[in-house]
Amino acid sequence: MLESKVYVSRRKALLAQMAARTAEGNRGVAVFLGNVDAAQNYRGNDYKFRQDSSFLYFWGVDEPWFAAILDLDSAEECLYGDDVDIDDIIWMGPQPSVASKGEAVGCARTQPLAEFDKAVAAAVAAGRPVHFLPPARYYNQMKLAELTGISNAAVRKVAPVEAGGASEELVKSVVALRLIKEQCEIEEIDKACEIGYWMHTEARRGCKPGVLEQDIVGRMEGVTLSKGWGVSFTTILSQNGETLHNHSHHQVITPGRLLVVDAGAESNTHYASDFTRTYPCSGKFTTKQREIYDIVEQANELAFSLTRPGTSYWDVHCATVKFMLEQLKALDFVRGDVDEMVACGISGLFMPHGLGHNMGMDVHDMEDLGENYVGYGDERQRSPLLGMGNLRMARDLKPGHVISDEPGIYFIPALIEQWKREGTDKGFVNYDKLAGYYDFGGIRLEDDVLVTPDGARRLGPYRLPIKSSEIEEIMSKE
Ligand code: GLY
Repeated sequence: MLESKVYVSRRKALLAQMAARTAEGNRGVAVFLGNVDAAQNYRGNDYKFRQDSSFLYFWGVDEPWFAAILDLDSAEECLYGDDVDIDDIIWMGPQPSVASKGEAVGCARTQPLAEFDKAVAAAVAAGRPVHFLPPARYYNQMKLAELTGISNAAVRKVAPVEAGGASEELVKSVVALRLIKEQCEIEEIDKACEIGYWMHTEARRGCKPGVLEQDIVGRMEGVTLSKGWGVSFTTILSQNGETLHNHSHHQVITPGRLLVVDAGAESNTHYASDFTRTYPCSGKFTTKQREIYDIVEQANELAFSLTRPGTSYWDVHCATVKFMLEQLKALDFVRGDVDEMVACGISGLFMPHGLGHNMGMDVHDMEDLGENYVGYGDERQRSPLLGMGNLRMARDLKPGHVISDEPGIYFIPALIEQWKREGTDKGFVNYDKLAGYYDFGGIRLEDDVLVTPDGARRLGPYRLPIKSSEIEEIMSKE
């Protein structure tokens, strides 16, 4: 948990944000539902508890069965939760009181959870606007529908509050605050990155012929559990790196292949890291692998060098894919005018994802609130093109933004075949050259970056080795 003044100042800032988006005298209430226990296979054998990130951000309590209300007209606030009874004490031991939990986050008023339902019902009955965020979990979706009388499907739909549904005013207010990281958050992300560094170091050391991928994953995840909360998302580790989010780890490390490792850690305060490295399974890149690897490594560096206030991540994405296409043209994968290729989305064949996403308490920060609200706002429209259209962060860059820088090049046989069949490439792609790359796999290289007042800095105390020569040297010694 952070210092209580952090939560107090966030709620004050939220009141100001909401005041700018709602009408004085009838602003209503902002209601926040924390997450509850979720059964894995029976009640009492739950998934590991993870609090809702916006609840954590404003109310700090990292436990199930809490809720809160912020009155946007009177500025009164209340945290709702139940004190433990003797049954709980028998199984869980004595617990701090709800009042002391409220005090720890600067909230003087606390009430039992049943009072939350009554307070929401009273606001609804009085015709006051009830603002809530789109729920990520089904229990909270059903609970909000039950409390507000809005249909189950509508509580997930973001719209101006008078339309009934999740509140666009609240979504925009929360995004405005959570997008710009405070110093205390940057320190937490640095810690998550340090854990991520050791996690990936374990992966690189484990990348030896004959080792089972699952064995490497287990050791990496052990690092995150021994130093923090656990993984920030399900680990992606595969020699079939052309599958962007490959979660099968059943293969044995085989000389001549490439191993993509995309994984991150969550700190004990629930801030995320997210790194990707790609290793030659035999410890040395083949000429073919190195040619592609070096393009991706230079693209990662180029994107970092362009990341600063005064530009947008949209423009950084475009400059990076343009660079990659120029390099692929030099190797005869594509032919023709590179600017035209960028304009018609040829890069999507090689990199079907965007350059990066916002990061924070969620590895894709606030994706539950809606990707366009988070990564685009009112600044620009999402592209329909493959690759560009998957760019999750396109905004003008500001100090305090935390984003991933993750270019990649992949050879996806099914996609290549589809483009060839349907003529999607508009004559730019040399399929004869690509025919020799169907068993290549993919390469992705990712760092986490903070936008600073005069540029950017890579997060974490150490950078994972990335240059092909560094990788080969370190792998030869491990
Ligand atoms: N690193 C996984 C992702 O960004 O989706």
